[in-house]
Amino acid sequence: MSNSSMSLADGSALVPTASPAEARVEISLRPKALADFVGHDHIKGGLGLIIAAARRRDEATDHILFHGPPGTGKTTLAAIIAAEMGAPMRELSAPAVQKVGDLAAVLNSTPRKGVLFLDEVHRLKTEVAETLYAAMEDYKLSILTGKGEGATPITLPLERFTLVGATTEFGALPAPLRDRFGQVFALDLYTVEELRRIIAASADRLGVLYDDDALTVLAERARGTPRIANRLLRRARDLAEVRGVELTGAVAHEVMDLLRVGPFGLEAYDLKYMHTMQRSYAEHPVGPQSMAAATGIPVITITEQIEPWLMKAGLLRRTRRGRELTEQGRAFLRGPIDLSASVAPLALEGEP
Ligand SMILES: Nc1ncnc2c1ncn2[C@@H]1O[C@H](COP(=O)(O)OP(=O)(O)OP(=O)(O)O)[C@@H](O)[C@H]1O
Ligand SMILES: [Mg+2]
Repeated sequence: MSNSSMSLADGSALVPTASPAEARVEISLRPKALADFVGHDHIKGGLGLIIAAARRRDEATDHILFHGPPGTGKTTLAAIIAAEMGAPMRELSAPAVQKVGDLAAVLNSTPRKGVLFLDEVHRLKTEVAETLYAAMEDYKLSILTGKGEGATPITLPLERFTLVGATTEFGALPAPLRDRFGQVFALDLYTVEELRRIIAASADRLGVLYDDDALTVLAERARGTPRIANRLLRRARDLAEVRGVELTGAVAHEVMDLLRVGPFGLEAYDLKYMHTMQRSYAEHPVGPQSMAAATGIPVITITEQIEPWLMKAGLLRRTRRGRELTEQGRAFLRGPIDLSASVAPLALEGEP
């Protein structure tokens, strides 16, 4: 099994794990103020109000939950809340919180108005989640000290903090947890115009000289996802720097060919999915399980990464009986662009 298909198996192929250096660049590209966060104006409006009111009262904001696809700004918004509140942020990944005590220690040291960012919050263990409920609601920590017979329950008061939760799977969140967030915001994929603005801002931060065509090429292939947009920009910057030229549309096109990222940002696995559907299920809609069996692509990759984008791009539609290619999707496969040669190994693996 090649590296690329291993990465496909855990569903992470479209947003490959970045190297530490890449991760640092990603962090450096995060907008730090609400005003610099591109798009999602209703979220910015709502958050702006919540933050302004909390600052006026000199209190922590309500607990806030962000849900939406990977790479669309959940962590970025959590950091923005902390920055705008002038408060520190602690970051925990829910699956890494093994014991109630781990969470208790963090909660106990979170200062007033501090932000505790809990990522992948749908993966919190049940007993840990129960401690969190009381902390969120009453700002109290109820824990057992000691072991066995001699264990005694104690209740500690907590400072009024803000829990910011993030999840890609809103439906998997237990209702008691969901209900304890004062505000829930849904993030969605971005338009090409919004991605152009994000890429332009990132290029300015990186000191890259670019033209308008380059922005369009990169934005159109970023699958509605700011993280992918920034990653494509970094690769385009690499080529422009190596050549000692500005980042033009032609350079951007060349990078997309090198990475085998086609029109609409389609990659090998999207094309494999579409070709298989066309070949084997042209007559009737098909479900993701059957598509997984027919393509060998894990069902989670199909449902979380491939289908949402193909639908957003208008190439696929969901019907009551399953998924089917749209006329545009079929025309795309008939079209002059044939990327089927790239169906074998995935091109975006092994980021330098
Ligand atoms: N609205 C936006 N405006 C500008 N940049 C953005 C925006 N949303 C995301 N980004 C950029 O995209 C990158 C990924 O965003 P972020 O890490 O916040 O995504 P996420 O939703 O937390 O993803 P995951 O679910 O994988 O944790 C960041 O580097 C950030 O710079
Ligand atoms: Mg995140």
